[in-house]
Amino acid sequence: GLSASAALARRPSITGAELRSAVPLPPPFQVPLPIPSVLTPVSTAGGADRYAITQRAASAEILPGVRTPLWTYAGTFPGPTIESRRGRPVTVTHRNELPVPTVVHLHGGRTPAASDGYPTDLVLPEGREATTHMGHDSAHGMHDPRAVVTELTRDYTFPLDQRPTLLWYHDHRMDFTAPAIWRGLAGLQIVRDDAEEALGLPSGPRELPLMIADRAFAADGGLAYPALDPTLRERPGVSEPYLAGVLGDVILVNGAPWPVHEADAARYRLRVLNASNARHYELEAVTDDGHRLDLVQIGADQGLLATPVTHKVLPIAPAERYDVIIDFSGVPIGSRVRIVNGLGSGRTRDVMAFRVARKATDDSRIPRTLSHDLPAWRRSDAVRVRDFSFRTGRMHGGHGWLIGGLPFDPARSDVTAGLGDVEVWRMVADVHHPVHLHLVGFQVLSRSGRPPLPHDAGLKDTVSLRPGESVEIITRFDGYRGRYLFHCHNAEHEDMGMMANLEVI
Ligand code: C2O
Ligand code: CU
Repeated sequence: GLSASAALARRPSITGAELRSAVPLPPPFQVPLPIPSVLTPVSTAGGADRYAITQRAASAEILPGVRTPLWTYAGTFPGPTIESRRGRPVTVTHRNELPVPTVVHLHGGRTPAASDGYPTDLVLPEGREATTHMGHDSAHGMHDPRAVVTELTRDYTFPLDQRPTLLWYHDHRMDFTAPAIWRGLAGLQIVRDDAEEALGLPSGPRELPLMIADRAFAADGGLAYPALDPTLRERPGVSEPYLAGVLGDVILVNGAPWPVHEADAARYRLRVLNASNARHYELEAVTDDGHRLDLVQIGADQGLLATPVTHKVLPIAPAERYDVIIDFSGVPIGSRVRIVNGLGSGRTRDVMAFRVARKATDDSRIPRTLSHDLPAWRRSDAVRVRDFSFRTGRMHGGHGWLIGGLPFDPARSDVTAGLGDVEVWRMVADVHHPVHLHLVGFQVLSRSGRPPLPHDAGLKDTVSLRPGESVEIITRFDGYRGRYLFHCHNAEHEDMGMMANLEVI
């Protein structure tokens, strides 16, 4: 691979206007880091776990002294964490008490299409008439796209027959995903197995999920977001946040602004998710005396790497996850390690901090070999190569974001792949687009004809295409047949058309 500095020579363009909060913001590193609570199953009988989540409005004190209305999974933001085991099925019954229809997608889950949260498979709000029709287009074996599936509650079933990793569940309704996630509809799900637990990685209180997301706050304490008025897109100045993606001036980790965590002088396993709609980060861990600690990456979106990769700077695009070990044992007791974003400026440079509070024993390890089960797909295995462009363009009389020149249309078949087929996808981007495929994990083969970057290692489900770049990935369409999606995970780009159908037959 390339050296870290070469990797970063081409910095992503941070476009998009940042929304400014209209309430006083707290100083950084004052609010303790919350850990999302783990959801208790309603049943563990029959070799499967069943959960119930009510989606409802709630409010929370995110900024000290300010009440913020939210849309939540089970009353909290982030939603409750679901802890699960590889191969042990989980069913989550979602009930929608929000004022709008919703869709749940388990990001990174290897899920049958019926539970994957297709953007028109709606869970209707209470009080709306439920109409369920599951039409089939016999020619393509696809759901009839005009037959929108709607229910008041919905059981989502996840076999979780997949590598252990950090997943996240979030809203996925067509055209309205970005504002729904912004309002709070996001939570974590962790898949574990015995092999990973036998490695001796830091665990218990030394394993921390970190959901990073930016937001902005209006004068009344509510979350600020550009109005969903399509005519605004064309007006200069107003259209900008829409088009490029919405950025906030407050960085939340697990729902708290610039939090601080009291740590032992020991190794920690940080399970980092960028749940921001549009903000990219380049994370660094900086000590009080200005040294950058190693970020030892042990896992990617789809689980453990073969062997650890050490970074000083870790770029993370929306929806990407990194599993990272950080070692505080050499840090003076009482001092701080700040996690900063090299792409931020002013307040958005800070992310969170650890205060190294006490000496501690540490029997954790970072094995040189982390996993043996990564796929070994070669270019010569591919039965086809596909090309996609991810670019802005005209859509419905305004500007939108297009894949291959087209905005999302649930009625159009875009990609049809055979179950078991290995394919290479070549994707080119105009500006920064984090591209996500449902159902499968993939490996990065090249970036603009050069080898992948150090942080491209392992099995991923989201890859950051940088401005002007051409990225090749290789994957195998495995697991289930049915209609899935691929899309840009800049949530505003996704809502503005940058999504396409992927059907496995
Ligand atoms: Cu994280 Cu299609 O989504
Ligand atoms: Cu995009």
